[in-house]
Amino acid sequence: MKKILKKIFAYFGYEINKSNLNSIHINPIEFLPIKDNHDNFQLYKRALEKSKVEWSDNFFKQMSSFSLIQLIRYTLKKNEVYDFVECGCWQGSSSYIISQLISEYKKEINLHIFDSFEGMSKLKKEDEILIDKKDEIKINNTWSTDESFVKNEVLKDFNFCKIYKGWIPSAFKEVESKKFSFVHIDVVLYKPTLETIEFFFPKLVKVGVMCCESYNSSTFRGAKNAWDKYFKDKKYTFFFQNPVRGCFLIK
Ligand SMILES: C[S@@+](CC[C@H](N)C(=O)[O-])C[C@H]1O[C@@H](n2cnc3c(N)ncnc32)[C@H](O)[C@@H]1O
Repeated sequence: MKKILKKIFAYFGYEINKSNLNSIHINPIEFLPIKDNHDNFQLYKRALEKSKVEWSDNFFKQMSSFSLIQLIRYTLKKNEVYDFVECGCWQGSSSYIISQLISEYKKEINLHIFDSFEGMSKLKKEDEILIDKKDEIKINNTWSTDESFVKNEVLKDFNFCKIYKGWIPSAFKEVESKKFSFVHIDVVLYKPTLETIEFFFPKLVKVGVMCCESYNSSTFRGAKNAWDKYFKDKKYTFFFQNPVRGCFLIK
């Protein structure tokens, strides 16, 4: 009977779902930048296409990319801008967004990209991970990518990108002497997030931006644990937790 009713409703374009008071239905076109297909969203969609990860599109990702793009624009509008960093690029969609904006603002800087290209490193107790071994393997398989695809296809037009393959923090020594204006952290786990912050925060210039995609993620709690541990006793100008996920800080 249930099946028949579902089929009848589906025929008229409706779907029956069990009501859950904790879940809400979000209509993304309520959000003007999505409805108007604003430049920032066109850039986000182009980045997914270029890196061949259209399937990973979702509301959370749309919102975090919207924040990321605004933070990058804020940084690139300054007169004096230093190098940018991304830790965790996967197939390069956020690297593409950052690179496209660096080009648009005509800044002569480098984007340094760090990734294992082999997925996640070992989990720590601070990750408080809720996924089982099977899901962990699945995630690692998805995140095991081809460095040359990112370098020679996704980022081929941006010769200012420098890619460092390896486990964080092994390649950080290559950028030891540099100053940075923007650090994008998307490595999800406790240890590499903490190591990234420890290395780059002292090298971030005053009013430079550091942001972390997995802050407040209930799946990857390690990112928040690392961030909170490091910044407990540090000075900075402004810290903001994004409403749906992620955070940023202005030094
Ligand atoms: C969430 S994905 C990055 C997504 C990417 N920023 C995007 O916009 O599509 C996380 C990435 O972090 C990398 N990663 C995780 N742990 C790492 C570690 N310890 N060292 C280096 N890379 C790591 C994975 O290989 C994966 O590519």
